[in-house]
Amino acid sequence: MNNFKWWQKTAVYQIYPKSFLDTTGSGTGDLNGITQKLDYLKNLGIGAIWLTPIYPSPQVDNGYDISDYTSIDPRYGTMKDFEKLISEADKRNIKIVMDLVYNHTSNQHKWFIESKSSKNNPKSDWYIWRDGDPKKPPTNWRSIFGGSAWTWCDERQQYYLHTFAVEQPDLNWENPEVRQALYDAANFWLEKGVGGFRIDAITYIKKPKKFIDGEPDNKDGSISVHTMTANTSGILDFLHEFKRKVFDNHDIFTVGEANGVSADELKNWVGDKGVFDMLFEFSHLVLPFTNGEIWCYPREWKLTELKKALSDSQNATKNNGWCPIFFENHDQPRCINHFMPKNSDPIKTAKALATILLTLRGTPFIYQGQELGFTNTAWDSIEKYNDISSHGQYQIALNEGFSPEQAMKFVHFFSRDNARTPMQWNEKINAGFTSGTSWLPIHDDYEKCNAEIETDDENSVLNYYIKLNDFRKNSETLLSGYYEEIFKDDENIFAFKRSSEKSKIYVLVNFTLNEVKFQADFLKNANLIFGNYQENEKGILRPLEAVIFEEAVK
Ligand code: GLC
Repeated sequence: MNNFKWWQKTAVYQIYPKSFLDTTGSGTGDLNGITQKLDYLKNLGIGAIWLTPIYPSPQVDNGYDISDYTSIDPRYGTMKDFEKLISEADKRNIKIVMDLVYNHTSNQHKWFIESKSSKNNPKSDWYIWRDGDPKKPPTNWRSIFGGSAWTWCDERQQYYLHTFAVEQPDLNWENPEVRQALYDAANFWLEKGVGGFRIDAITYIKKPKKFIDGEPDNKDGSISVHTMTANTSGILDFLHEFKRKVFDNHDIFTVGEANGVSADELKNWVGDKGVFDMLFEFSHLVLPFTNGEIWCYPREWKLTELKKALSDSQNATKNNGWCPIFFENHDQPRCINHFMPKNSDPIKTAKALATILLTLRGTPFIYQGQELGFTNTAWDSIEKYNDISSHGQYQIALNEGFSPEQAMKFVHFFSRDNARTPMQWNEKINAGFTSGTSWLPIHDDYEKCNAEIETDDENSVLNYYIKLNDFRKNSETLLSGYYEEIFKDDENIFAFKRSSEKSKIYVLVNFTLNEVKFQADFLKNANLIFGNYQENEKGILRPLEAVIFEEAVK
């Protein structure tokens, strides 16, 4: 355990700055708001904060459309505010981790403005341009947010490729000047003293040699660009260079967002021969989707599938590599709604999922509000939604023949706005988030679900997170112990054992609303150390019950 890195021992907290705390009355959160809440985060016991993008941006995709990689968006404050955040966080032993969005820029970035101006300007090859008929895009690829992945540019009389929104043109990583400019920007932030990077949508940076149509996955004849371009062979060459030129020789961590990389490929991405310290792989989050991640064709999934997804990445990194453990982020529904049956008690559920999050082998990532037990929201019309993908998916559902009411049901479940409603600090107006008009409605449960109330309530979700996180940090078994699944084929209980020379820790969680029984001989000498009910009768788990037992090794 002594040779463990700082980022393996700590939990990381993800902040969506726009929705965290507004100190100016603008209705939008800001950097000074984060600085103000550092003591709250210190008390939660986290050692790093991952900030979603705070760079200048037209905000088409809430900051993931960046128009300048080395400045701060004035809506969040100034570079001075950022430096203050770093130094105040440092005093509390908390590192600041930046989000690098390097698959694409905003169409307002000066690189793109130059690139689109002609076919022979110095940056003409910085993006992905193709000839074509203005009425027929080069391929049938559909962008992740819906609509063609190609947009015609009148100025240049060519198409450009965008994996995401029209306003997010993809950079051409084949061009060494592009790569160098991106490395320079990352090094700029290292000089400011950041503690690491989360690298956005990284599986899309390498495009296939030939751009050809794919077999449609949709009635309109399109196929998701994800199917056609994610994780294309040759991508790791770029990333090894990135590592060499930026990450090596710094005491930081890197975590890549890698939808499309499976557990058996992890060895090439993390560990001794890998390119990142950790990888967000999505196999446990995409269970409700059929091919193409279209919201209107959700599928039922079984608990054994979720357990397999989590166990596969645990096992793949057992001897070499490390996992980020996460159930939420700014793109996902709230985990209470995502993983547990409808009508589950939110407090029991939040604690049950926290139990898994903080006991698997890896670095836990807590997304703002998760520690308070935030749940999904449901607004009555699509106009109320800000999230660009909610609009795209709503349209896809209508095109597929669903009624507006049905289309809204999909949005209610999957919308990324579920994760983006503002933090709920107290029961005052706007939940203490802003004194102005909030950019996104506050969830209507804020009077009973907020940081102030939960700080004072010994049995709150927040205090469960604090206690269990503290236990994890000091437990050699949870930090470094082996992982082994128990009751692998059981469709009701997720159970596993962590073991080290010091102890054996057993974690058992009932994912159903029924009482379930199990053979508990192995718990004979173990003591209950955590649970979301007061006590526990060995061999029985009540609805949504989560327990942690520990047995010392003599
Ligand atoms: C990542 C981000 C998401 C964003 C997309 C495009 O998936 O997490 O929020 O929309 O990349 O940058």
